[in-house]
Amino acid sequence: MKSVFTTLVIILVLTAIALFTVMYGGIFNVAATQNHTKLTHWILSATRESSIEKRAAGIEVPNLDDREMIKNGFRSYREMCAVCHTPPGVKDSPIAQGLNPPPPNLAAEAAELSDAELFWVIKNGIRMTGMPAWGVTHGDAELWDIVAFVKALPDISKEQYQELDRTTEAGHSHAGGSHDMGGHEAGGHDAGGHDTSSREHGHDTGQKVDDHGSESPAATAAEQTDKASDHHDDGHSHGEHTH
Ligand code: HEC
Repeated sequence: MKSVFTTLVIILVLTAIALFTVMYGGIFNVAATQNHTKLTHWILSATRESSIEKRAAGIEVPNLDDREMIKNGFRSYREMCAVCHTPPGVKDSPIAQGLNPPPPNLAAEAAELSDAELFWVIKNGIRMTGMPAWGVTHGDAELWDIVAFVKALPDISKEQYQELDRTTEAGHSHAGGSHDMGGHEAGGHDAGGHDTSSREHGHDTGQKVDDHGSESPAATAAEQTDKASDHHDDGHSHGEHTH
C-alpha cells in the first residue's frame, strides 16, 4: 500500500516537472503558422461542437425569413464578417489567410449549424480562435439579422453577392431607414450602413472614427467590398443601437 502511494507521488511530481518544462522551457510553438496535430484538431472540434450545441439549446429563434432582415444582415456581414469569412467571389484577405484555425467558409458551414447555434456563436465568439464575440458591442436584433443573412448565404451566388454589394451601397441612406437609421436621415446625415463601424469602434475609445477605423478589421473589410470611402459617422447611432 505504501509503495503504491509513493509511486503515485513520484508520478505526480514528474508530471508537474514535465508541465513546467513545457510551459517555461519555450518548447511549445505558439506560432499561428504551426498546424495542430490531427489529435488536437479532433479534440478542439469535438469540444467546440458540443459546447455550442449545449449552450444554444435554450435559445428562442425569431422568424428569419424576412427580406429586410437579410438585407440588414448583409450590411453587417460586409462590414464585420467578410474580412475573415470570405464571401462568394471575393479573394481571401490577409487576415483570413493568416488565421489559425482558419475562418470557415460560412456558405458551406451554415447548414451544419442550427439558427440558435449560429446566433450563439456570433454573439459569444469562440475563445482562443479569431472569432470575436459580437454580443459585446451589438444588440440581439442586429445579430439575428446577421443570422438571417448567413442562413441565406448558401443560396447566394458570386454574381448575386456582387449585385447586393452594389445595390446596398447605392441605397445606403434609404435602405436602412426603416430599421435603425431613421433618426439619422432626419438629422441630415447620410452615413447609412457605415454606422456599424462607428458603433463598434467609436464605443470604447471615444476616438474619432476616421483615425480609428483605418486600422480595424471591419474597416479593412469595408475597403475590400465597399468603395465608398467617406465615413461621416459622428457617433449619433450609439443610443439607437442599444435597443
Ligand atoms: C477576425 C476574424 C473573424 C471575424 C471578423 C469573424 N469571424 Fe467567425 N470565425 C473566425 C474563426 C477563426 C472561426 C473558426 C473558429 C474555430 O475553428 O473554432 C470562426 C467561426 C465562426 C462560426 C462557427 C462555424 C462553426 O462551424 O462552428 C460562425 C458561425 C462564424 N464564425 C460567424 C461569423 C460572423 C457572422 C461574423 C461577423 C458578424 C464573424 N464570424 C466574424 C474568425 C472571424
